Amino acid sequence: MGFFEGLDGRVVGAPSILAADLARLAEEVERAERGGAELVHFDVMDNHFVPNLTMGPMVAASLVRATELPVDVHLMVSNPDDIIPAFLEAGVSSISVHVEAATHLHRTLTAIRSGGAEAGVALNPATSPEEIQWALPYLDFILVMSVNPGFGGQSFIPEMIEKVRRLKEMTDLPIEVDGGITTETAPLMAEAGAQVLIAGSTVFKGDPTEEMRKVIEAGRRTAGTE
Ligand code: DX5
Ligand code: ZN
Repeated sequence: MGFFEGLDGRVVGAPSILAADLARLAEEVERAERGGAELVHFDVMDNHFVPNLTMGPMVAASLVRATELPVDVHLMVSNPDDIIPAFLEAGVSSISVHVEAATHLHRTLTAIRSGGAEAGVALNPATSPEEIQWALPYLDFILVMSVNPGFGGQSFIPEMIEKVRRLKEMTDLPIEVDGGITTETAPLMAEAGAQVLIAGSTVFKGDPTEEMRKVIEAGRRTAGTE
């Protein structure tokens, strides 16, 4: 069963490894896992759709081999179709594409699913929920960006709480929230209906085990699942 398919109503935490010490990736992920992380968030940037440049399918393949946790790929790239087969080959468990970057979104989502991964769509802060209404049957999850994609450590955009709420009125699909998630913002997003709390700088600024645990606990307290 896929990770998102098996979530039910649970609120879970995922470290964004963008903020980790990348020379010690497996170790960093393991530390977050000890704090209760159930998924690893893997940011792919191409210096085109976003100004930054990060990791590709080869690093993803190494990480898949190094951890038991499912690897969730967030593609912040202009031509997602070109690179999706390599990530599927790497054995990642889910892939999200930006609706703003996809030219043929239906084809892209179908390719992800038929390659054996769960398919998600990511929305920039400026993109309205209605953009993806037609695509809901082809999705396993939705990623709501709560900062402009491209960098870790940015400030949370509070209007994204309402966006999560609106999406939950449209669909029961699980929602990931990504950007500026801390012990303060996690409860607000969980209360609005977010289930996967992705956190980068908050988790890796200190002891990832402790910090991951705190984010998950903060989200669960408000979501009433603990
Ligand atoms: C931003 C990335 C995020 C990033 C979040 O474009 O998609 O996953 O790592 O970082 P923080 O948690 O530091 O905002
Ligand atoms: Zn991300």
